[in-house]
Amino acid sequence: MQIEPTTLTPEATYRLLSGLVVPRPIAWITTLSPSGVLNLAPFSCFTFVSNKPPLLGVNVGRKAGRRKDTGAHIHHRGEYVVHIGNSSQLNAIHESSAEHPEDVSEAELLGLATAPSETVAVPRLADAPVAMECRLSQVIGFGDTGAEFIVGEVTRFHLRDGLVRDGKVETLELDPVCRIGGPNYATLGRIVTLRQMKQTAKAAM
Ligand SMILES: Cc1cc2nc3c(=O)[nH]c(=O)nc-3n(C[C@H](O)[C@H](O)[C@H](O)COP(=O)(O)O)c2cc1C
Repeated sequence: MQIEPTTLTPEATYRLLSGLVVPRPIAWITTLSPSGVLNLAPFSCFTFVSNKPPLLGVNVGRKAGRRKDTGAHIHHRGEYVVHIGNSSQLNAIHESSAEHPEDVSEAELLGLATAPSETVAVPRLADAPVAMECRLSQVIGFGDTGAEFIVGEVTRFHLRDGLVRDGKVETLELDPVCRIGGPNYATLGRIVTLRQMKQTAKAAM
């Protein structure tokens, strides 16, 4: 089967790409509205784009032509917190994607405990295994839908005790979840360990 991309609607292209580019990690993001309401939503167009400094990138789309609350709040305050949730939080991750008016806090609605951050004013989720406080670095628009790739510098890592040993993340301990297509998710499958390949310092990112 072949598909000529220009024959697809943007919705069909979204369904195709979001089913093909899998599994995607999920950035579970808290932001603060201009009036101080804590917003929470998941985003799976997510990766890291630099390690010096540590930069995370997330693609935030629009709803009915307007920036989603997360995007609008990041533009407004320049601060946010990216969490990595685990499988016990999957339901809350999914539920937090529901649309609510800006004055409704998804974190409060879902009964999720929060804690103050250290370097940003935006609170973090107290029970997420990972919380990365971020300061906005760059916004890059892509395509015709108004989607924005938002890049932020991590200004503090919060890692649950026991998650990192000798500088390495204990992946089973992290127990991350990922998005497949639509409302489908996956947890960690089998971990396969291969031999270490030689890399020059230049080749290592
Ligand atoms: C697991 C998951 C991943 C998602 N990933 C994205 C994404 O990468 N980009 C995006 O714009 N919306 C994504 N969404 C949809 C947003 O979470 C949804 O539009 C949400 O209502 C946005 O909330 P906000 O308006 O409070 O920012 C995702 C939804 C789910 C359930």
